[in-house]
Amino acid sequence: MSFSLQKLLRPHILTIKPYSSARDEYSGHFGVFLDANENPIGSVGLPQEDYNRYPDPYQQDIKKKLSVLKNIDPSQIFLGNGSDEAIDLLMRACCIPGKDNVVILPPTYGMYEVSAAINDVELIKVNLTPDYQISPQAVLDAVNEHSKLLFICSPNNPSGNKLNREDINHLLHHFSGLVVVDEAYIDFSDEPSFIEELEKYPNLLVLQTFSKAWGMASLRVGMAFASKEIIQVLQLIKPPYNISGLTQSKVLQALENADELPILVSEIIQEREFLINQFNKLSVVQKVFPTQANFVLIKVVNAKDLYEYLISRQIIVRDRSKVVLCDESLRITVGTREENEALITALKAY
Ligand SMILES: Cc1ncc(COP(=O)(O)O)c(C=O)c1O
Repeated sequence: MSFSLQKLLRPHILTIKPYSSARDEYSGHFGVFLDANENPIGSVGLPQEDYNRYPDPYQQDIKKKLSVLKNIDPSQIFLGNGSDEAIDLLMRACCIPGKDNVVILPPTYGMYEVSAAINDVELIKVNLTPDYQISPQAVLDAVNEHSKLLFICSPNNPSGNKLNREDINHLLHHFSGLVVVDEAYIDFSDEPSFIEELEKYPNLLVLQTFSKAWGMASLRVGMAFASKEIIQVLQLIKPPYNISGLTQSKVLQALENADELPILVSEIIQEREFLINQFNKLSVVQKVFPTQANFVLIKVVNAKDLYEYLISRQIIVRDRSKVVLCDESLRITVGTREENEALITALKAY
């Protein structure tokens, strides 16, 4: 299937002139900066800090470091206010409201549907199989010439499993729009990232995030990796200063200490295995679904009742029992050993 970025984008996107920020015309660090209507004196209540100037709209320092870590050119990296921002920007760049559609594979991450609704974009749903795998032919049968984006979440939220690589490859070959592989949980998985397939597929975009394994959910930073041409479009339509200066400095600090990531991840995986072990011993748990993420989906006898019982003990999990293919299921995030033990103690007392 031939892919055309021209055909993927809403026609007017190609005619937009980028916002030129005050500092675009001068890249030096030293000078008398009277161009951006900032406060030259300082910041209220933060006398020791350096927040009175606008941050780098291109986040070049972070991209330089990330490009080494991810083995990809900085021009192929986009940073957003969470990966949720990239999801929204993709809808806005590609989908004409009332005409185009996006394809999702339920049960899946909820924001694809919300973002489509906000943008007045039709949704085509093709359920995963009962064991949470893709039916590639069903997807290809359901799409049409207005299908612009296909969201594939692997490892999948809320089921936790990874989706078969051959099925994703098959869709990359045969879907004419953009395939978005959401790898929010990839660091907890034994699967290599699809970033390494970017050279092969011009219609691939990979989403990752600093919110999960990196432990920086509060900072709101998501990553998109794609061809230089696709990244240029996201850069063009994003708000200029979408990543704050404070956030940029914290992300840089994290990247300078990237060797800590595998240590955090292995601790969480160890806790995940502890939880799975414990769940398997409990009669209230009917099924523990295989997981490659930092959460576990379990099937229980009465999910709503158990959920409410846990709330009464101030333990909050995610009731997914109303979600398609998730009857009587709860999604439980892996906590610290203390938190996991509190959960298990409560489940034993149920
Ligand atoms: C599959 C998936 N993608 C994306 C996100 C959003 O991540 P971010 O915090 O980067 O917006 C989440 C958050 O739960 C998620 O589960």
